[in-house]
Amino acid sequence: VIARWPSFHGSSIGALAVSGRPSLRADFDPMLPVTPFIPAPYPYRCRLPGCGARCSLECAEALDAKIREEGPDTVAAFIAEPVIGASAGAVVPPPEYYGLVRETCDRHGVLFIADEVMTGMGRTGRWFGMEHWPGVRPDILTTGKGLTSGYVPGGAVMAGGRIVETVNAGGGFHHGFTYSHHPVVAAAGLAVMRYLERHDLVARAAVMGEHLMVRLRGLADLPAVGDVRGIGLMAAVEIVRDPASRQPYPASARMAQKIQAEALKRGAIVYASGGQVNGAGDLIMLGPPLVIEREQVDEAVQILGDAIAAVTRA
Ligand SMILES: Cc1ncc(COP(=O)(O)O)c(C=O)c1O
Repeated sequence: VIARWPSFHGSSIGALAVSGRPSLRADFDPMLPVTPFIPAPYPYRCRLPGCGARCSLECAEALDAKIREEGPDTVAAFIAEPVIGASAGAVVPPPEYYGLVRETCDRHGVLFIADEVMTGMGRTGRWFGMEHWPGVRPDILTTGKGLTSGYVPGGAVMAGGRIVETVNAGGGFHHGFTYSHHPVVAAAGLAVMRYLERHDLVARAAVMGEHLMVRLRGLADLPAVGDVRGIGLMAAVEIVRDPASRQPYPASARMAQKIQAEALKRGAIVYASGGQVNGAGDLIMLGPPLVIEREQVDEAVQILGDAIAAVTRA
C-alpha cells in the first residue's frame, strides 16, 4: 500500500505503518511493515520541484512515479485522507488532485482507499469529503468519529460490489473482535444519520463552515498566524514564529499546547497538533459540532484569537 507523508490513519500496526506521522510512529517503528510514501499536497509548505504559486500537481504525479518504482504488480492500493487531518491541519488538495489520483490508480490497477474517518459524516459540508471532487469515487472508504457522533466507539469500512464479491469468492474476510459488529454501535450510527438528515446538518456544516472560514481569516493579521485553511467545519490555523519565512517555533516551545490551554481557560476547546515541519510546527484545529450556532462560531474564533495573541506575545 502506498501512503502519503504527512498523514494519519490510526494506531494499530497496519494503520500506523501507512501513517506519515513521526511522533506517533516512534514507539513502534521497528515493528512497522515498510510502506512506500509520497508527499501529500501541502500548498503552504510545498517544496516539490515545479510547485510554486501555481500548483503544478507534482504531488499527484508522484503517485505514478512511486507505483512504477515499486512495480505496479506489487501495489494493492493507495490510501489518502481526502482533506488531511491532524498530521498537517485541514489541508485541502487542489481541485485537480484526486482526478489525477483516480486516473493513475485505474491505469495501474491499484485500488484507491479514502480514509474518511475525520472528513466523513458531514464534517466538510458534504456527507463525505470525496464529494468535493465530483466524479471521483474511491474503491474503499473508511469512516468513524462522526459516524456515531462519539456516543459509542464506532467505525466502518465500505467497499463497492466488485471488491466485496472478490473477497467473498476468496473465502470471505476473517476479521472479528469480541465487540465488533455490535448492535449498539449500529443503532447509534443509524440514530446519528437520522438526526443529521432530519435537521439538514450536512448542509448546515457547509454554511457554518463558510462563516467559520471568514471569521478565521480575520485572525490572519495576528503576527503568529501563518495560514488559515479548511473546508466545512474542519479548519486549522498554522502558527509560525515568522510569517515571512514561514519558520515555525521550535518544538520545545510547545506553542500549540500553550494556545490550547489558554483557549480552554477562556472557554473554548481547540485541538492542538503539529510536528509537520520535521518535528516542529504548530497547528490549532477546530472541529465544532455540526449544530454550532453563528454566535458560537464568533465566540470560539474570538477566544482563539485572544489566546494566540496572549501566548505569542508572552
Ligand atoms: C484520518 C484518520 N484516520 C484514522 C484514524 C484512526 O481512527 P481510530 O482511532 O478510530 O482507529 C484517525 C484518528 O484520529 C484519523 O484522524
